[in-house]
Amino acid sequence: MNELVIFASGSGSNFLSIINHIANGHLNAKIVGLITNKAEIGAIEIAQQYGIPHCVLSSAQFTNNKTYESALLNQCVQWNPRLIICAGYLRKIPTNLILAYPNRILNIHPSLLPKFGGHGFYGLHVHKSVLESNETHTGCTIHIVSAEYDKGPILAQERLAVHPSESAEHLAKRVLKLEHQLYPKTIASYLKQLNNTTE
Ligand code: GRF
Repeated sequence: MNELVIFASGSGSNFLSIINHIANGHLNAKIVGLITNKAEIGAIEIAQQYGIPHCVLSSAQFTNNKTYESALLNQCVQWNPRLIICAGYLRKIPTNLILAYPNRILNIHPSLLPKFGGHGFYGLHVHKSVLESNETHTGCTIHIVSAEYDKGPILAQERLAVHPSESAEHLAKRVLKLEHQLYPKTIASYLKQLNNTTE
C-alpha cells in the first residue's frame, strides 16, 4: 500500500485536499499519520475529524536539534511511510530524514521555483514579493526535498497569470486552489513511478 505521512504547520488545506482525493478514488494511497511542529492548528483538527493519528513535535519539547531530529525519524520509522508529504511544514527537513527516505520526501511551494524560494520565502512573503517584482505569472511547485531549502528536483508546476491590482491575500488564495489539484495529482504519478522502479 502507498502509505503517506503528512508534515504540516498550519491550516492543513493541502492535507484535506489529499484526504479528499484518496476518498474519491483519484489517489491510491493511505495517510498513516500527521506530524506537526505546533499544537492547536487546523491540520490537527482535520486529522482528528478523519481519525488519522497525529504527533506534535514542537521545539519546546526538545533540549536541542538532535533530540528533535531523532524523535522525528523515530515517529516516521514507526509509521513506515512510502512517502513523506510536506504540506506547509515550516521547519527545515533534517539531513537524517533525507538520508533515511532518499527521494521519498516531497514538498509544495507556492511559487514557480526557483523564483521566490529559499530561506524566508513562506506564506504571504512569497506572494508579496511576486507582486512587488511585477511578475506576470506565478504558481506552485512540487519538488523532492533535498538538503537545501526549496532546491530539490522539480516534479511539477502549475502557472497562473498575476492580476496587477490584486492583493497578496487574493493571490495566495488563487495559488492555493491550484495547489489543491496539483499536489494529489503529482503524488499519484510519483507513487506510480516509484512503484514501477522498485517492483
Ligand atoms: C501552502 O501555500 C504551501 O504551498 C506552503 O504552505 C501552505 C500550506 O497551506 N508550503 P495549507 O496548510 O495546506 O493550507
